[in-house]
Amino acid sequence: MLNDLLNWRYATKKMDPTKTVPEEKVTAILDALRLAPTSSGTQPFEVMVVTNKDIRAKLSEAAFGQQQLVDGSHVLVFAAWDDYTDERIDMVRDETGNARGGVTDQVRDYYENLKGMLVGRDADVNFQHAAKQAYIALGVAMLAAAEQEVDATPMEGFDPAKFDEILGLREKGLKTCVILPLGYRDAENDWLVDAPKVRRNRDILFTRID
Ligand SMILES: Cc1cc2nc3c(=O)[nH]c(=O)nc-3n(C[C@H](O)[C@H](O)[C@H](O)COP(=O)(O)O)c2cc1C
Repeated sequence: MLNDLLNWRYATKKMDPTKTVPEEKVTAILDALRLAPTSSGTQPFEVMVVTNKDIRAKLSEAAFGQQQLVDGSHVLVFAAWDDYTDERIDMVRDETGNARGGVTDQVRDYYENLKGMLVGRDADVNFQHAAKQAYIALGVAMLAAAEQEVDATPMEGFDPAKFDEILGLREKGLKTCVILPLGYRDAENDWLVDAPKVRRNRDILFTRID
C-alpha cells in the first residue's frame, strides 16, 4: 500500500491550472508534516502556504520559470531557522513543559545541554542542520500528498534569496531551503506521467552487514 503510493507519486512537471486542491486535503498534508520527527524535537523551520496568485507568479519567476508554482494551487515553502538561539531553544523547552506537565529539572538540563551544543556555532552550520530537519518534513509531506491523491513536486531549483525577499523571511530569522508546489497532474500534457521510475538496483543501494 505504501509502495503503491510511492509509485503513484512522481515529480509532476505539468499541473492542471483549472484544478484547486481542497483545503481539507492541504490541512491533512500539513498535519502530517507537523508530525515529522526532528533532531531534539526542535522543529527548526516554518512552512509558508502560498495560494496568492500574484505571489506565486513572482515565486515562479524566482524558480527559473517553473510552471508548477502557478499551475498548481498551493506552494509550500519550507523556511528553516537561520540560526539556533537561546530564545528558540527555550521556546522548545517550554513547549515540551506545556505538553508534558511542566519543565522538570531533567527537561531544563536537557535543553541547557542542547544550547551548549548548538548556540554560538557558525550560523550557516546551524541553518544547514535546521534545513535537514525541514527535509524530513518534506518527505512526510510528499507521502501525505500521495495519500490524498494530490500531486506534489519537490524543488530545489529556485533562488532562495529571492524567495526570502518576496516572502519577507529574513526579518523573521528564516531562510527558504526547499519548496513543494501542490496541484493536480495534467496527464495529457505531462511527458513524465507514464515514465518508469528510475531507481538504483537494490544490491547497489543496500549493503547488508550481518
Ligand atoms: C530535494 C529535491 C529537489 C528537486 N528539485 C526539483 C526541481 O527544482 N524541479 C523539478 O522539476 N524537479 C525537482 N525534483 C524532482 C526530482 O528530479 C525527482 O524527484 C527524481 O528525479 C525522482 O523522480 P520521481 O520523484 O518522479 O519519482 C527534486 C526532487 C527533490 C527530492
